[in-house]
Amino acid sequence: MKALVLAGGKGTRLRPLTYTMAKQLVPVANKPVVHYVMHHIAEAGLRDVGVIISPETGDQVRESLAPNPWGFTFTFIVQDRPAGLAHAVKVARDFLEEDPFVMYLGDNLIGQGIGEFVRAFRESGADAAILLKEVADPRMFGVAQLNGSGRVIQLVEKPQDPPSNLALVGVYIFSPAIHQAIDQIEPSWRGELEITDAIQKLLEQGRPVQSFLLQSWWLDCGKKDDLLEANRVVLDEWITREILGEVDEESKIYGRVEVSPGARVEGSTIRGPAIIGEGTRVKGSFIGPFTSIGRGCEITDAVIEHTVILDGAKVIGVSRLEDSVIGRNAVVRKQVTNHGAFRLMIGDDAEALL
Ligand code: TTP
Repeated sequence: MKALVLAGGKGTRLRPLTYTMAKQLVPVANKPVVHYVMHHIAEAGLRDVGVIISPETGDQVRESLAPNPWGFTFTFIVQDRPAGLAHAVKVARDFLEEDPFVMYLGDNLIGQGIGEFVRAFRESGADAAILLKEVADPRMFGVAQLNGSGRVIQLVEKPQDPPSNLALVGVYIFSPAIHQAIDQIEPSWRGELEITDAIQKLLEQGRPVQSFLLQSWWLDCGKKDDLLEANRVVLDEWITREILGEVDEESKIYGRVEVSPGARVEGSTIRGPAIIGEGTRVKGSFIGPFTSIGRGCEITDAVIEHTVILDGAKVIGVSRLEDSVIGRNAVVRKQVTNHGAFRLMIGDDAEALL
């Protein structure tokens, strides 16, 4: 079985960060989202991995995956425009050959591995398997309607009147029958070849489509609030206390905090769960729970909570920064005395004087 990871797309909902960065590389607890995806694929025993990339951000994605700690054989496939998930499968046709494959959206994060899902697909003899999660408002998602034994009867994309509260999570498994189904569909009203239409085609042909309910959490890191929530959940569940950098005597570190090698904490308090990246300097500051600070950052006289700060950024004199995302090498500096809290979304290299 092969894996196809989708790391193309436009990422419009995560601008301005995605003007300069592939959205699958945005860090969650200081690790690019797509690395969590690769970890799950490796855990499931798959080794042959195709990665869909866009012409704009493809090189960044290649570079980020180059250390390849998973031991994969990578095939990078350029999709010239984000023409839909089924279009991505179409452009990967030569790589996929006649093998079954897992398709995993590169910006989706789930709280458990996919090994069980892969095993269940193999045993089911189905032509497709979808992963579902109950959501409060299914109208924004692809939604599945099931019969009593968990077989899928119908799929609808962003329905006004949802037939269930079961949304499609961004992990799918297909037999090669999906390729003929894709050949038979037309672009949707939004001009994309939709994978839900292709799966619906399989259903109309009487082919079995199995579904599995995801027990753990599912987060799509495509928007600021989702990214902050993903950061919160990952820090909460997966971070351990590990002080590898320098912490001076005046500083206090409470709870599960990771201070990476080469980081230096001076006269500061850090309350976990939080992570401080390599070579970052935190001085005279309070870093509150659910904060990830990247590599080579400078945080001086600041109070920061529930925030993601990317590599090389500087935050100086800001008495309260919360629920924020600060891009690479951005500078946030306060000039006036103001006791309010700031909530910011700042792109790479930007300079904000508050
Ligand atoms: P989406 O979040 O649906 O699309 P997008 O990346 O264009 O984002 P936005 O809506 O903010 O503009 O895509 C889901 C995942 O699939 C994401 O990781 C990007 C990837 N993708 C491709 O690789 N090719 C495609 O043609 C599309 C539509 C998405």
